[in-house]
Amino acid sequence: MKRIGVLTSGGDSPGMNAAIRSVVRTAIFKGVEAVGIKRGYEGLINGDIKEMDMSSVGGIIHRGGTILGTARSEYFKTEEGFNKALNMLKIFKIDGLVVIGGDGSMKGAAKLNQAGVPAIVLPGTIDNDLGYTDFTIGFDTAVNTALSAIGKIRDTSSSHGRAMIIEVMGRNCGDIALYAGLAGGADAILVPEREIDIDFICQRLVVGKNRGKLHNIIILAEGAHITSDELTRQIAEKTGIECRVSVLGYIQRGGTPTASDIILASKLGCRAVELLLEGKVGRAVGIKGYDIVDIEINEALQMKDGLDDAMFDLALMLS
Ligand code: ADP
Ligand code: F6P
Repeated sequence: MKRIGVLTSGGDSPGMNAAIRSVVRTAIFKGVEAVGIKRGYEGLINGDIKEMDMSSVGGIIHRGGTILGTARSEYFKTEEGFNKALNMLKIFKIDGLVVIGGDGSMKGAAKLNQAGVPAIVLPGTIDNDLGYTDFTIGFDTAVNTALSAIGKIRDTSSSHGRAMIIEVMGRNCGDIALYAGLAGGADAILVPEREIDIDFICQRLVVGKNRGKLHNIIILAEGAHITSDELTRQIAEKTGIECRVSVLGYIQRGGTPTASDIILASKLGCRAVELLLEGKVGRAVGIKGYDIVDIEINEALQMKDGLDDAMFDLALMLS
């Protein structure tokens, strides 16, 4: 293997830059050339590809976003787009590819691998919605960003004696809500994986109010089975407690990655290159406990990512 390409795809996540840095520098350290592919599969199709050296990944370890840019490419899903991508890999003499992204990006990489491209994927998404790995790159940063917001919102919640609904990201996965909710002492955590019992939540808010509790924090994952407006309306109607909504949105996707995300990204990036050089391809790299693991991509995609029930129950018990 003489030349490795790296791209970031799908929703960005803090730590992607540290992963790019690790892939590029590990490759160079091992005597292999590295190229960066811009804007995910879109840049691959268009041949938007540049040589990377030690200094092209200098000063990025602490930066959010991705220096390569990212995209969601519908064209890549078509036969024509896919064949163009394959052709570009040949033109640029890329012998191995590292894809950093979420489950969609992994599906694309699995197809490339099936077509004969030695590919490795790294889990880059804030959602932590991939069952084969305990944590994804960017999740820890997103949780800490949400936690910092919860602290500020709790202050104003106490001053006014209001219930505050804080909507966090997570289309199909309640992990950001659960981790930020437990760490932030939330009174209720609403996630896509669980049915919602509004009467139970309201009962708890009233019990809290009756014992003099001033702040009420409710964490709502964006994919949960109720909208923030509907939740606000029902809480106000059933408890008489004034309620406000804060949607955290894209602040969760940016910012300086935490040490934990940088370390994870660095370890996974290095392992991706090692696997390519060992000829062990078509693998998804992740972390299980303290171990860096790799598993066949399609198998990884099939592993369901359930909510941590014990953690959910603990959050409820402590609130
Ligand atoms: P994420 O990787 O964050 O889950 P997306 O689901 O948008 O984000 O996927 C990123 C890109 O991966 C898509 O825009 C598309 O180019 C590619 N992709 C997604 N699903 C597939 C698929 N089934 N086959 C081939 N490529 C796919
Ligand atoms: O997959 C990560 C994620 O941030 C989800 O939590 C969110 O629903 C989605 O991406 C938003 O995607 P977009 O960038 O297309 O608005």
